Amino acid sequence: STDKTLDRDCTTLSRHVLQQLQSFGPNAQDLSALMNRIALAGKLIARRFSRAGLMEDVLGFTGEVNVQGESVKKMDIYANEVFISVFKQSGLVCRLASEEMEKPYYIPENCPIGRYTLLYDPIDGSSNTDINLSLGSIFSIRQQEGTDSDGEAKDLLTNGRKQLAAGYIIYGPSTMLVYSMGTGVHFFTLDPSLGEFILTEENVKIPEHGSVYSVNEGNFWQWDESYREYIRYVHRTEGYTARYSGAMVSDIHRTLVQGGVFLYPGTLQKPEGKLRLLYESAPLAFLIEQAGGRATTGKMEILDVVPKQLHQRTPLIIGSKQDVAKVESFLKKED
Ligand code: AHG
Ligand code: MN
Ligand code: MN
Ligand code: MN
Repeated sequence: STDKTLDRDCTTLSRHVLQQLQSFGPNAQDLSALMNRIALAGKLIARRFSRAGLMEDVLGFTGEVNVQGESVKKMDIYANEVFISVFKQSGLVCRLASEEMEKPYYIPENCPIGRYTLLYDPIDGSSNTDINLSLGSIFSIRQQEGTDSDGEAKDLLTNGRKQLAAGYIIYGPSTMLVYSMGTGVHFFTLDPSLGEFILTEENVKIPEHGSVYSVNEGNFWQWDESYREYIRYVHRTEGYTARYSGAMVSDIHRTLVQGGVFLYPGTLQKPEGKLRLLYESAPLAFLIEQAGGRATTGKMEILDVVPKQLHQRTPLIIGSKQDVAKVESFLKKED
């Protein structure tokens, strides 16, 4: 039982980012600073979660409803504000867009210099907040292309291949940060006593196939028949097992490590499903593709979707190549 933080080659997140950046030219220093700020946001959120039951005003709802039509948790707001305050000081980010804000948030003092937009889901799986189960945060960094100040952020409405970096933080038994800058996918684990994210696995590859499927089967009769056919196939075929946590970051982290497929199809009430493209599906698709997996809406690759609106939703099928293809084989019969 050696302690990885005692290893002479112990790699912190900041050191790793700098090593990855050799091919990045002019963006290199900026990306390194941005990743350090994301790590700081993750540490602040993890710290609050770890003491949730011991403090006032951590658990429960605020009483507000967000632009998504969802009841907002206190932690959604706390985490949303953590990202804003951490990036106010960075200088590099002129604009932040999140699940919890109808319009992008501008940091005018950064705008002459700020060249990047941060898109994020401050707390993913917020229904797990009050029951001490795993949750996450999702982030995506894009170059800011417009200097728009009409608040519409039209320049964000491009495909997911434009992401410079993407990843998630998972608040589980340990806190992990998983990121890609287009040069593989890398795992870091927070050592709380050091306050550092330490490299625990480099160049992670998703298995070509896994036997776990992850979907909210409570929606079974809300889906298109083709998804029911896929689920019937899984039920009849030996060896599949179901896992669904209520936080896609956790489900996708498991899928990345062990293989399999995560699905959130459209439903009768939500024909495009629940998950939002720009700050949920696209960053996770970027990671899973970098790890050798796939992500599709069922009709096209997630990273090729050009959204029409900031909070646009898309159906999502993501995971091991073979398992995504298996789901597609049922969908294609319909077209
Ligand atoms: P969020 O907490 O950011 O709104 O996202 C919740 C998402 C996702 O994390 C999860 O997989 C899914 O919603 C769960 O939704 P259902 O309860 O409809 O299955
Ligand atoms: Mn939500
Ligand atoms: Mn989410
Ligand atoms: Mn959320």
